[in-house]
Amino acid sequence: MTTKNILLLAGDGIGPEVMGEVKKILALIESKGLLSFQIDEDLVGGCAYDAHGVAISDAAVDKAQAADAVLLGAVGGPKWDGVPYEHRPEAGLLRLRKDLELFANLRPAICYPALADSSALKRELVDGLDIVIVRELTGGVYFGEPKEITDLPNGQKRAVDTQVYETYEIERIAKVAFELARVRGNRVTSAEKRNVMKSGLLWNQVVTATHKAGYEDVKLDHMLADALGMQLVRAPKQFDVIVTDNLFGDILSDVASMLTGSLGMLPSASLGAEDASGRRKALYEPVHGSAPDIAGKGVANPLAMIASLAMALKYSLGRPDLADQLDQAISATLADGYRTGDIWSDGFKKVGTAEMGEAVLKHFESLV
Ligand code: NAI
Ligand code: MG
Repeated sequence: MTTKNILLLAGDGIGPEVMGEVKKILALIESKGLLSFQIDEDLVGGCAYDAHGVAISDAAVDKAQAADAVLLGAVGGPKWDGVPYEHRPEAGLLRLRKDLELFANLRPAICYPALADSSALKRELVDGLDIVIVRELTGGVYFGEPKEITDLPNGQKRAVDTQVYETYEIERIAKVAFELARVRGNRVTSAEKRNVMKSGLLWNQVVTATHKAGYEDVKLDHMLADALGMQLVRAPKQFDVIVTDNLFGDILSDVASMLTGSLGMLPSASLGAEDASGRRKALYEPVHGSAPDIAGKGVANPLAMIASLAMALKYSLGRPDLADQLDQAISATLADGYRTGDIWSDGFKKVGTAEMGEAVLKHFESLV
């Protein structure tokens, strides 16, 4: 059995609390002989600043470069409001994204049946929903040049943002989408505006060419991004993997997250380039922040962090089977009525971080 190299960066606030539950699951996977790990831990965010004067050390970045998967809790908090801008806790996260070239942001929208009533949509539209939006993260209109506001002779102003995409950027994100689809529902929908944007036309052509060159086993559809937005709230279950650019992906992933209910439930992944051995750099983290209002109380919802581990198992650690079992364990725990404060309502069992984590662990142990 190959040993997988995992780096845990628990971070600040509730980060260490939710990471604690992930450690228990990793320990179980190892004790059952399902995978073998080499686990390392380091600091990121405010805690790293307190220890080293920087939001992430060079040594921690080197470990992240070498890891099969990095799991990150959360960074930030009011304690570090006054620190110099370049050392803010977020700077640790930004440096990781930049140094590891994490160009693909994966935001799943998973709706656990037990929580389908907290969705913004009707239960039957979202019950069992499981889609992933793959957003291009390092190119497009947020970075393209020229980007400026200039003064016009008539006293008015003129603002320009530029959407730029090159073939290699579209090709590599398309490959990520096709490869994800293969361990999921085997379908990719690519979204752009080829009818009004040259970059949309190139996007469409490159995704089509990439599909022909080795991914024809995956079903590919193209949809205009505005139409896709409409379909996402009309019938979201029709999708499996959606791949789109930075701007459309920003908007569509926020829409998709509201289909599922609570912030404490949402995992994410950021994937980077393949190295010489074909290994893809990868960072997995919950969408939520460090929740300073509840930190240290043992009440944080660990499910987004645990679901982030499930994504790592599926996309970086070669065990989609264990990922599915972990997702089933989360689902079963919710079906048992366990709720942390953020998702609790009358009639359910209110539990803390550890009780929730251990309930998932127990279900997971019975499934593997
Ligand atoms: P937040 O996500 O930390 O919290 C928003 C609200 O949701 C709070 O009421 C919090 O208690 C609740 N919440 C969040 N996660 C929860 C969980 N797992 N279980 C139960 N309740 C949960 O966002 P906020 O308050 O805007 O930011 C707090 C700090 O986190 C700031 O310093 C911010 O910069 C940082 N942050 C870090 C992120 C990251 O590490 N990727 C992302 C977002 C914010
Ligand atoms: Mg956004």
